[in-house]
Amino acid sequence: MERSLFEIKDLLVAAGEHQILKGLSLSVGKGEVHAIMGPNGSGKSTLANTLLGNPDYQITSGSILFHGEDITDWSTDIRAKAGIFLAFQYPQEIAGVSVIQFLRQAVSARKAADISAIEIRFSMMEWMQKLGMDPSFAQRYLNEGFSGGEKKRNEILQMALLEPELAILDETDSGLDIDALRVVARGVNEVRKENPDLGVVLITHYQRILDELSPDFVHIMINGRIVASGGMELSEKLESEGYEGWRE
Ligand SMILES: Nc1ncnc2c1ncn2[C@@H]1O[C@H](COP(=O)(O)OP(=O)(O)OP(=O)(O)O)[C@@H](O)[C@H]1O
Ligand SMILES: [Mg+2]
Repeated sequence: MERSLFEIKDLLVAAGEHQILKGLSLSVGKGEVHAIMGPNGSGKSTLANTLLGNPDYQITSGSILFHGEDITDWSTDIRAKAGIFLAFQYPQEIAGVSVIQFLRQAVSARKAADISAIEIRFSMMEWMQKLGMDPSFAQRYLNEGFSGGEKKRNEILQMALLEPELAILDETDSGLDIDALRVVARGVNEVRKENPDLGVVLITHYQRILDELSPDFVHIMINGRIVASGGMELSEKLESEGYEGWRE
């Protein structure tokens, strides 16, 4: 029997007393792109944080499966090593660590091998070119003074080099300009070209990203649950009608 790459089963998640996810299920197959849209406060970032293994969020029931294996209790590090990429799993800024140093360490951990500085530089240059990034970026200190767009580029560069099997991207930044959105869409498309089996879960408010990415599935999340799943027609309906029709 063909199993899903990634499956979330009836997840209940609370932050302290506050019940946020109220029975959320989602199944992602190899190579599929899923978009999750939903109004502010519906629990999208909570879902991302839960998948990240953030201890502020308690799973009270349900499970998370990766290749059919229950990973609900796995630590963030182990999830990352297994091939799950979470865009914001890294600290905001690491003083004195350059983008290239950071990537060398992260890729070595993922591949369980010591990747040389030359190897990393080579693949970084290759990807930075594909992503239209300035080569001087490699020497910058991680996230220090990065603009919103540069943070996105860095995120996508990490995704490209880490070669994940599943990428979960929470596009919460409200101030992203069209270029930064394009970086994300273009980056995901480039990485998928290299690895057509990559599964993607993209949390976003922006119809614009979806136009460029053409997700296979669009899910509408309201009040801690997915209330509708379909194709691009759902996001088009959203664009014209808003969330009103889906609210309880
Ligand atoms: N650590 C926490 N402690 C208490 N309540 C929390 C916590 N994290 C999130 N919440 C609450 O859970 C609800 C969902 O928040 P979440 O950030 O997941 O929404 P979201 O769908 O990502 O919203 P947005 O579209 O604005 O990014 C909100 O009411 C929020 O205040
Ligand atoms: Mg959010």
